[in-house]
Amino acid sequence: MGEKQVMETTEAQIAVHWQEEDYYYPSSKFIGQANLTDPDIYDRFSLDNFPDCFTEYAELLTWYKYWDEVLDTSDAPCFKWFRGGQINASYNCIDRHLKKNKNKTAIHFVPELEEERVDHITYQELYVRVNEFAALLRDFAGLKRGDRVTIHMPMSAELPITMLACARLGVIHSVVFGGFSASACADRIVDSNSRVLISMDAYYRAGNLLNHKVNADEAVAIAAKDGQVVDKVLVWQRYPGKASSDTPMVDGRDYFVNDVVKKYYGARVEPEKMLSEDPLFLMYTSGTTGKPKGAQHSTGGYLAYVTAMSKYIQDIHPKDVYWCMADIGWITGHSFIVYGPLALCASTVIYEGVPTYPDAGRSWRIAQDLDVNIFHTAPTAIRALRKIGPDEPAKYTYHFKHMTTVGEPIEPEVWKWYESAVGKGEAIIVDTWWQTETGGFLCSTVPALKPMKPGSAGPGVPGIHPIILDDNGDEVTQPGIAGNICIQNPWPGQMQTIWGDRQRFVDTYFARYCKNPESKDWRDWPYVAGDAATRSQDGYYRILGRIDDVINVSGHRLGTKEIESAALVVQEVAEAAVVPVAHEIKGKEPDLYIALKPGVEATDEIAKKISDAICEQIGKIAKPRKVWLVPDMPKTRSGKIMRRVLGAISNKGDVGNVMTLANPEVVETIKNMVDKS
Ligand code: WTA
Repeated sequence: MGEKQVMETTEAQIAVHWQEEDYYYPSSKFIGQANLTDPDIYDRFSLDNFPDCFTEYAELLTWYKYWDEVLDTSDAPCFKWFRGGQINASYNCIDRHLKKNKNKTAIHFVPELEEERVDHITYQELYVRVNEFAALLRDFAGLKRGDRVTIHMPMSAELPITMLACARLGVIHSVVFGGFSASACADRIVDSNSRVLISMDAYYRAGNLLNHKVNADEAVAIAAKDGQVVDKVLVWQRYPGKASSDTPMVDGRDYFVNDVVKKYYGARVEPEKMLSEDPLFLMYTSGTTGKPKGAQHSTGGYLAYVTAMSKYIQDIHPKDVYWCMADIGWITGHSFIVYGPLALCASTVIYEGVPTYPDAGRSWRIAQDLDVNIFHTAPTAIRALRKIGPDEPAKYTYHFKHMTTVGEPIEPEVWKWYESAVGKGEAIIVDTWWQTETGGFLCSTVPALKPMKPGSAGPGVPGIHPIILDDNGDEVTQPGIAGNICIQNPWPGQMQTIWGDRQRFVDTYFARYCKNPESKDWRDWPYVAGDAATRSQDGYYRILGRIDDVINVSGHRLGTKEIESAALVVQEVAEAAVVPVAHEIKGKEPDLYIALKPGVEATDEIAKKISDAICEQIGKIAKPRKVWLVPDMPKTRSGKIMRRVLGAISNKGDVGNVMTLANPEVVETIKNMVDKS
């Protein structure tokens, strides 16, 4: 426990601290049109009405059969929501809208090349394409209910089509962020036992056409070494004959979807009647140990929860054009580009590329051209856009009624620019705190009911009851004092388990405060989020950051252990330690300390080799700010690396008392090295 606890203090110390802010109130215009204006919602969702209150969320969906039980706790903490209910996610996101809205745009796809057409896919067209691809997956790829499939694709309309085709068949999709390396993709193929990989030929990013199919080849080769055979690689073609033409297709294994799908034109696939508790997808995320874990999300509970969050917190109506800038390869994209908005029959925008290319006005041009009125992004993008083009939004004619921020704490200064410059003083903002594991929002303001407070996420959303606990499990009741934020009750969007590792699920999220591991009572299983937070007098929560070994880089979650393991693959490396460093745009960046094996000379080449190894194994997002080749790691007498000390050095903070270390003298050497550079 010793080292962990110290780690927590450092995180809290280097977290951004800011003053309590004033409230901002929603306009009467916003309130007049809002989906949720009934203040009784909080009473209806009090713990006294738990778990039945959540049927209100489930009723937003169309079920083949209603549930036998709202919450089944018999296998706690693997909770089953709406047990016995039958439902299909693809049906709820597409078919049920056709009668009234088949000609409405479901997806606007904006390619990076501005000379290429924006694709406006209607619900009818989405229905046709999802059915055809589902027929291909079933009849050509041989996939059936319960199988897993890995999808490694860039942002494109074909990505949600692929996901919804899987959902139609009851195939569990595991989408890997397109920017992850082949090796990261292979890990996920192996863990989920996928025998089919779905990829894409190429995509544009910041002016470059990147060959993506090459990752599929490498991933399949690496997975094979780890014992997982991929027998089919299905490759969507965005740019036939361009980047992919130099990527040979492997005979009998690789197929261009665009060719094969012709056989299935006009095919219709009856949606599978899935049980509410059947898994819909896996989303791998970083944690305290090296290996990313597959958060398993259910069909009925997850879909009910994200639909409710999209409706009540994001205030999505069918007539809205909604743009969430995240990548579909992260949970935000799953819940709030694909499933939530489509279940509500909104038009959802997907774009290729980056917000800052070809110029700082791109985002606002897209908003203007597509008449976007709900906008969703992360602090890292807001900081970047503010830095490169603070006056750009004013040059474009668009009107946002609502904006979301997600992924990391937002500094009040940045919040205020978002509100005034991007939102033009017209839009309300919700700061949504949640996680891959939670499916949907945990803390946020209900926009028409609660005022906004820059820098604070807000109270628990209706049905979520947060509590701050200290290390002994006692509630921290004093406002402003930090502790571990937990959720007292289960909720339908909560992950079901870690794929194939129930014990790790229990240990990671519940063991810390569960007093009775045999208990079947949900009250005994508070969910431990892994973030430090404070609560203020008004019941608003301010999230300070992770208390575990996770670094949030540009809103992307990376495990320090994952990066360290990647560094240790380089044979010259003896020890590796990663610490987060504050960064103006990205929020945090990993700083990497390396002790080389005896006799190995510290050179720039070796540092580069280590940095390259990390990019190769995880992806460029994990690239360290700097690789510090140090003579030795600062260690406790029991031999533990003192990451707290390294963190203080990287962040130019106070290293504190180091005299109890086994090798205090090395601290000064490292400090000199870092300070000088
Ligand atoms: C952080 C992203 C402050 C937090 C949806 C959490 C936030 C981790 C916020 C989950 C927010 C997310 N304010 N911090 N509004 N939203 N976080 O799994 O540390 O990629 O634990 O899910 O991001 O990251 P994940």
